[in-house]
Amino acid sequence: MRKLSNILKSYKESRILDIGTGNGNFIKVLTDLNPNFKSAIGIDVLESSINSCEANFNDDRLSFTKMNALNMDFEDDSFDIVSLSNSFHHLEYIDDTLKEMERVLAPGGVIIICEMISNNLNKKQKSHLEMHHFASEIDRERGSIHYKTFTDKEILKLLSEQSSLDIKDAWELVIPETAVISDKEIEWLFETIDRVQERIEGSERIEYYRKKADKVKKYIIKYGFESATQIIVVLGK
Ligand SMILES: C[S@@+](CC[C@H](N)C(=O)[O-])C[C@H]1O[C@@H](n2cnc3c(N)ncnc32)[C@H](O)[C@@H]1O
Repeated sequence: MRKLSNILKSYKESRILDIGTGNGNFIKVLTDLNPNFKSAIGIDVLESSINSCEANFNDDRLSFTKMNALNMDFEDDSFDIVSLSNSFHHLEYIDDTLKEMERVLAPGGVIIICEMISNNLNKKQKSHLEMHHFASEIDRERGSIHYKTFTDKEILKLLSEQSSLDIKDAWELVIPETAVISDKEIEWLFETIDRVQERIEGSERIEYYRKKADKVKKYIIKYGFESATQIIVVLGK
């Protein structure tokens, strides 16, 4: 986190835009690492994400708005930091989204992409990958854009091909976890898998997904669970 913190701290009173903010995980990381930020806006296409962020954050400098990254209601050059965390694999049009992110980025600003990767994972981390692939397969079946996890090389290739900015830096971030997963954590993971499975109730392929869910649960019991490694990529001029 030190690298990210140094980048953020190099902007005094920064204006931050977090795209695909979800429940605000990444905007929290960015604003915690740089408490002197001037303003931070989280956007998401889901009303439920905006509502939960509005209920969970209490800082006048933070705001949340329902908006699509493909067509943002912001002036050119409005932000010093534009971030996209674990949302890259949800983008239907990566090139157009990057163009829009670059449009709202002020001169001298940086785009920060944070994304979980599918390569170089240990057995515990593969539990996270399996859970993610289970959810992404169900979402695709329901017609949502939710690709499988990319490798670090795929992410770097897509960004270097589709962004007009340079890759200034890129590194991998492993979130340290406790050595042994508790029963309570397993219970929480299983509830998450069950909730994901509920998205597909009524489908004729429900049996297929039930079996898949059981397989993922068995894998977690056998090997444990750890968050997958994430890559952080900094784009700028
Ligand atoms: C997996 S969540 C990531 C949440 C959060 N950034 C994090 O790191 O935990 C992906 C989010 O991206 C949002 N999203 C997908 N496409 C989007 C778009 N075109 N514009 C804005 N948000 C989008 C989804 O609604 C979802 O909340």
